[in-house]
Amino acid sequence: MTGLDNKPATACPALVKTLTKTLAKVTSTITAAFPSLKVRQTARQQGFRVIGSDWPPVRAMSEQAVVSNPAATTSRVVSGPEEATFDGHVVRSTSVISKTTGLVWVKATFVKRQHTMAPSRAFTTAFRRLASVSTILQRPQHRCISAYGYEQAKVLAIQSLGEPKDVLHLHGHSISPPHGDLLTVRFLASPINPADINQIQGVYPTKPTFTTALGTSDPIAVGGNEGVAEIIAAGSGVKGMQKGDWGIMKKQGFGTWRTHAQCKADELMVVKDKSGLKPEQVGTVSVNPMTAYRMLKDFVRLKEGEWFVQNGANSGVGRAAIQLARLWGYKSLNIVRRREQGMAELKKDLKSLGADAVVTDEEVESKGFRDQVKELTNGGREPIRLGLNCVGGSLVNSMAKHLAPSAHMVTYGAMSKQPVSLPTGLLIFKDIHFDGFWVSKWSNENPEQKEACVSEVLDLTRQGKFKDVPMQPVTWDYDTKQDELVQAVQGTLEGFRSGKGIFVFGKT
Ligand SMILES: NC(=O)c1ccc[n+]([C@@H]2O[C@H](COP(=O)([O-])OP(=O)(O)OC[C@H]3O[C@@H](n4cnc5c(N)ncnc54)[C@H](OP(=O)(O)O)[C@@H]3O)[C@@H](O)[C@H]2O)c1
Repeated sequence: MTGLDNKPATACPALVKTLTKTLAKVTSTITAAFPSLKVRQTARQQGFRVIGSDWPPVRAMSEQAVVSNPAATTSRVVSGPEEATFDGHVVRSTSVISKTTGLVWVKATFVKRQHTMAPSRAFTTAFRRLASVSTILQRPQHRCISAYGYEQAKVLAIQSLGEPKDVLHLHGHSISPPHGDLLTVRFLASPINPADINQIQGVYPTKPTFTTALGTSDPIAVGGNEGVAEIIAAGSGVKGMQKGDWGIMKKQGFGTWRTHAQCKADELMVVKDKSGLKPEQVGTVSVNPMTAYRMLKDFVRLKEGEWFVQNGANSGVGRAAIQLARLWGYKSLNIVRRREQGMAELKKDLKSLGADAVVTDEEVESKGFRDQVKELTNGGREPIRLGLNCVGGSLVNSMAKHLAPSAHMVTYGAMSKQPVSLPTGLLIFKDIHFDGFWVSKWSNENPEQKEACVSEVLDLTRQGKFKDVPMQPVTWDYDTKQDELVQAVQGTLEGFRSGKGIFVFGKT
């Protein structure tokens, strides 16, 4: 029997002292190696959370391996090895950090044993107990990682279609460390767009993706279609992407109202240069600015100085259209809903983005509007050759009357839920074309152009030439309550909002 035999686990002071010393060294080594982590002097005091034991049963106490860890497949040594002797045993301890999970632990190996017999149970228990309190550290970015590096994720999901307040619920699940071509990503910002609500209500052409892969017995679907996520771990087969990169999902329907996700590397479009950008800017680039961009370019070849007219001009798409048009030399006639308060401020706001004219829906439907248009367009010499409609109803007719012959009116939304009815004369005698545009379809069919478009808009954003929409951020931490998140989604249905709802992920 060794000197450790028959002693209770706590009575192995030499071993405890050795590994505790190693831990202190690990902490200071990490602090030095990763100053940005701002690790303080001891694990417990510093934002590191001890979240349980990742110390699997000590394997047969062979000369070589005492500790193994499945998450340790790609790791690097951050301190040691150093040796300590107690009761005739020599233990070599090395601390390592996993590249995939960010977990830190101490690997201890017997290099010399005093006795030929295997160490006792007391010795083994001492190892485990020590490990459970000292070696599983969490990075201070507040990731919740369980034993073996499983990421703890939360999703805002539905089990059936309906009103968001009735069907959305928060669901928690874990994500295993990625392998092969898989990535684990942490979401940074995900907007709440009108189409997301329509999808939950079941009135959108694409249905949410229901699955049982998130650990539920009945299928659920995660809400949201847009957002930006950071890669926090990558499988060994992933090429050209790395931890810390930001990406947006290539296709709609992934479900972006979630703290974390696992996806295939080819599902993510990496943002090549994230410098100078906020997550909220990257997280809102792929739907609204893209829609505005394509609609201004793909239906009519507007020449510099020519006009387009749009309703819903203060929407995300509308604001993007105003700014892009300004940069490309087109003029914009912008229609917003009349409101009791804040009308002058709204007009001023849109003009500051580059709007040439801002009018209310009531003005457009009034008798004097024709003269106003004439004056704006230099007596009609600067034709309005494009119309953009996201509202519907009679307003579209009133807009279409002012279009030049052979112009296009592109419908991309139906905020008023009113149908568009057209006077046949506009079709027959003026040859006005009525088209529709859907960015999801366009993006799926043009992945490369989408990437180029995203980079272009992000470059403009970085240069201060493209401003983000006003936002109403909702912070989503790991412990944020379901009600708060659901309320944010439901609130998006209200009109006259001061900003777009967006989940900004904090301590997840
Ligand atoms: N087809 C596509 O590919 C595509 C892509 C992106 C967006 N969209 C659509 O474009 C529209 C705007 O989206 P967004 O994300 O830019 O919106 P957003 O930023 O959330 O703004 C919503 C806009 O809708 C207006 N609005 C709300 N309720 C209205 C009502 N009952 N009648 C008239 N206007 C109303 C708001 O005006 P107030 O300030 O006056 O309330 C605001 O201008 C939505 O219909 C969306 O589905 C379509």
